[in-house]
Amino acid sequence: MSDRTSVALSLSDQLWRRKPIAAQKGGPELQRSFGTFQLMLFGVGATVGTGIFFVLQEAVPDAGPAVIVAFLVAGVAAGLSAICYAEVASAIPVSGSTYSYAYHSLGEFMAMVVAACVLLEYGVSSAAVAVGWSGYLNELLESLIGWHLPDALSYSPIPYEDNTTGIVNLPAVALVMMCMVLLIRGASESARVNTIMVMIKLGVLLMFVVIGFTAFKSDHFSGFWDSGASGISAAAATIFFSFIGLDAVSTAGEEVRDPQRALPRAIMGALFVVISIYVLVALAGVGAQPAEKFSDPEQQDAGLSKILFDITGNHVSGTILAAGAVISIFSVTLVTVYGQTRILFAMGRDGMLPKRFSAVNPRTLTPTFNTVVVAIVVSLIAGFVPADYLWDTVSIGTLIAFIVVATAVLVLRRTQPDLERPFRVPGYPVLPLLTIAVCVYVLSGLAAVTWIIFACWLAVVLAFYLLWGRHHAALNRGEVADTEVPEGDRS
Ligand code: ALA
Repeated sequence: MSDRTSVALSLSDQLWRRKPIAAQKGGPELQRSFGTFQLMLFGVGATVGTGIFFVLQEAVPDAGPAVIVAFLVAGVAAGLSAICYAEVASAIPVSGSTYSYAYHSLGEFMAMVVAACVLLEYGVSSAAVAVGWSGYLNELLESLIGWHLPDALSYSPIPYEDNTTGIVNLPAVALVMMCMVLLIRGASESARVNTIMVMIKLGVLLMFVVIGFTAFKSDHFSGFWDSGASGISAAAATIFFSFIGLDAVSTAGEEVRDPQRALPRAIMGALFVVISIYVLVALAGVGAQPAEKFSDPEQQDAGLSKILFDITGNHVSGTILAAGAVISIFSVTLVTVYGQTRILFAMGRDGMLPKRFSAVNPRTLTPTFNTVVVAIVVSLIAGFVPADYLWDTVSIGTLIAFIVVATAVLVLRRTQPDLERPFRVPGYPVLPLLTIAVCVYVLSGLAAVTWIIFACWLAVVLAFYLLWGRHHAALNRGEVADTEVPEGDRS
């Protein structure tokens, strides 16, 4: 058993040991079916979703027309880290994403800290996004057929901010279950569905931009800096959520052909598409509607659809946009659930979770047990917890994961200078250091309560690691014993 060998290592040896990069080879394997373009659309699919359709209503009241700057700050935070991901993913093209990068560069303990962060980033965000989807689906049904599901089947039993309660959020649960079925059937089938959904969502956002520019008024940009730096930083922290997802590309490292080249190209391509469409939407939105109007309560729930209604005077384009939002959010949930299963797959293979998490179905070549467990947990959260509690914890987990990836770039360049890196961050070491600084800046905009929730969650994950994970680690069992450990990787 694992415990026989683990007793030989001190606690400190276990906490700081690093997994050799060559040790990634061996163990259960997934099918390499993605090309670069499909992978890039995975990044866009995971990123463009709930946020962009509604975030202007929350961010413009904070930053005024300087929301454009807030978009750029949030985009820079996400973009800088995407560049860091591109380097590490090209050097370590595996499924575990940030968790695996931390295991190779910073050691087992930090890998588990990151695991806690990515469980928030992927697991909790897929639940939060599914809850949002349920609301948009009801709005779409209402505008199409004048009917929506009763509150009892649309809300969780825990009250929302406006005190609405129900029995279960049924559409959110149904969405997660649909994603589960697709993911179990096969990764390439899921990628095909994602590609169609991404094309639709980009199409409806471009429609918004075109219609928005027909009502563009430059006066809406007067008093540009009136909200000051604090307004911009609060807005950037809110907007940051809309940029989360680019790193989902890096969870597909073991299912892509020519991963060392495809991963960085897909991450950079997705970054370009997302920043371009977001800045265009923000410009069109603020150009079409004065900043004060974004605080109007009527505007709050209707998002971009209401702006279209005000411009065109009819509901057609708004309804098309709402349908696009429903489709968009489906693909965010699909890719985030996918990302979560692949990270747990890597953890199962490393012995940080029971081995069943890395078991692959020989027919579909997907991790079926793992996918079912993720879907059940995510749908329980989505069905019974209101989304407003969840958003900020997702951002905190993601920002810390981004900081870890930038640190991994710095550490690996020093400890393993000869590692093959088909993509290298430009402007080293300034760029990874800047990534850390910008992420810390965005983190500073989050509320104290979010930090408390995060600290409690981290304590639970680390307790699991100390009591179970470190005793079952594959490194204990000598499963990688005959792997050559590079000089810089010896701890
Ligand atoms: N970036 C994703 C969204 O906005 C999480 O829905």
